[in-house]
Amino acid sequence: MNGFADLRARLAALDQRWLRRTRRVVEGGWTPAARIVESDATGRDVLAFCSNDYLGLATHTAVVEALAAGARRFGAGSGASPLISGHNAVHRDLEIRFAETQSPHIPTARALHFGTGYLANLAVISALADRETEVFSEELNHASLIDGIRLAYARRRVYPHGNAEALEAMLQDSTARRQVIVTDAVFSMDGDLAPLPRLLALAERHDAWLVIDDAHGFGVLGPGGRGSLAHFGLHSDRIVYMATLGKAMGVGGALVCAHEDVIEWLIQRARPYIYSTAAPPALAAAVATAFDIALGAEGERLRTALHTHIGRLRAAFGAPAAIEDADGGGPERVGAGWRLLPSSTPIQPIVVGGNDAALALAAALLDRGIWVPAIRPPTVAEGTARLRVTLSAVHTAEQVDRLTAVLKELMTRSE
Ligand SMILES: Cc1ncc(COP(=O)(O)O)c(C=O)c1O
Repeated sequence: MNGFADLRARLAALDQRWLRRTRRVVEGGWTPAARIVESDATGRDVLAFCSNDYLGLATHTAVVEALAAGARRFGAGSGASPLISGHNAVHRDLEIRFAETQSPHIPTARALHFGTGYLANLAVISALADRETEVFSEELNHASLIDGIRLAYARRRVYPHGNAEALEAMLQDSTARRQVIVTDAVFSMDGDLAPLPRLLALAERHDAWLVIDDAHGFGVLGPGGRGSLAHFGLHSDRIVYMATLGKAMGVGGALVCAHEDVIEWLIQRARPYIYSTAAPPALAAAVATAFDIALGAEGERLRTALHTHIGRLRAAFGAPAAIEDADGGGPERVGAGWRLLPSSTPIQPIVVGGNDAALALAAALLDRGIWVPAIRPPTVAEGTARLRVTLSAVHTAEQVDRLTAVLKELMTRSE
């Protein structure tokens, strides 16, 4: 079989299992009232519940203005990797500011700015781990963490979701020279929280690093939106904390915060940091303004609105509003064999099971003008395809009610 025939056969195999992915084209800026281009290239207005722009900052006037002003001041691009000449004062100031937000949780905190969260995770894990390292990876970790372990050539041991006891048994077994525990703080396809205090206690006991990916927690959780470390009140020099800037911050990029020695090591050794062009300084300028909003009084108001929407959606299905971590309760059976997962975050997944069922449900919603993506394997486990509903502070209560009314209508039909 030649290369093209081989690829076509593999694409056809994806089709057979309902696993072919497609992209929708969004016209204009991202808001819950999105405009998407249909196949006949005509625009169509839909109500969207599929973005990680949890606070609505992607189109916030002040953030957009900061980006434009940043481009006028610093130009469009950084021109080089950070160690050559791409590290701008605006990157440095953002790093200092981020380190300040996490300094109650990480002694002698220092931070490093990255172009994306994917890159940051590759950098952290491949710099901390090597062939002599065992990396203990939570079952539902994001692909970028898994790829970081691959890049490090480290040995990967996967522990079951939320199960600190199983992790402890694995740590006790380990004879590797170094140990690293790696976890999402908020699981991106389930919305629940990792039991971070218990993971930290294990890291302390077993002299391991604890790498925490807070892509979906920073800006949303904890006092002042400072994220998962603040939410749980953690404090340790073993924590390596990563926050992305393209979700609640609405812009793009990522920041890693850790003890100053860890950050110095990343600068010396993290290949994804060293060998990639620094993010445009204008992006860092926009993020600085997003920080002003998200971590200030306006952010408090936005978070209150967001958490009210979360409670509203869950109440519509008779599910409790706040569940603090992975032990907080099982999924609610909401009818038609659907399960609303136990999540207190803006990620509110409804598991339907089969790939075809999830696609059919997403299509039925779109017919009714509502856009929620169907998430299928390999992003989630086989047989757990789901609708991944995400809420934003800039949704209105009426929009949330419209979503739940349409979901209930479809649920009754498929019962
Ligand atoms: C948990 C998690 N980690 C890392 C990333 C990667 O971040 P970025 O989109 O900035 O590359 C994402 C999302 O994309 C994510 O959901």
